[in-house]
Amino acid sequence: MKKVLTLSMVSLIVFACSHKTTSTVTKTEEVKTTVATETAAIEKTESATVTNEQFLAGKAVYSAKCGNCHKLKEPSRGNMTQWTKWIDRMAPKAKLTEDEKAQVTAYVSVNAKPN
Ligand code: HEC
Repeated sequence: MKKVLTLSMVSLIVFACSHKTTSTVTKTEEVKTTVATETAAIEKTESATVTNEQFLAGKAVYSAKCGNCHKLKEPSRGNMTQWTKWIDRMAPKAKLTEDEKAQVTAYVSVNAKPN
């Protein structure tokens, strides 16, 4: 009788452990999936918006040409609807070329408020 009891306890423990292992694996897979989705989202955002080169070029133009009449304005002061209007108004004042205007727009868009 004692032997049977021991045996059933052992199998209970084995069952409990194997059950635990299964649920751990499932959880890890869920986490992996979430990370993969987030990484894809980040890559998508980056390719859809601004490259590092554009950002740096825009920053250089911005600090060279946009701080002569007033202090440099923080990109976070407005969203892109506002920035597009401001840049349209300021680009002639700062004598920006079309390329420079696009670079400044790209630079500002990285830290602008969401629309
Ligand atoms: C020749 C002088 C001059 C230059 C160069 C200049 N600005 Fe301005 N900026 C002004 C003046 C004057 C104002 C305030 C009057 C106005 O809003 O039009 C102003 C205002 C602004 C504002 C505030 C707008 C608002 O409505 O709150 C922003 C943002 C701005 N400038 C961005 C820029 C950027 C970006 C550049 C570079 C592309 C730039 N400025 C270059 C003269 C200049």
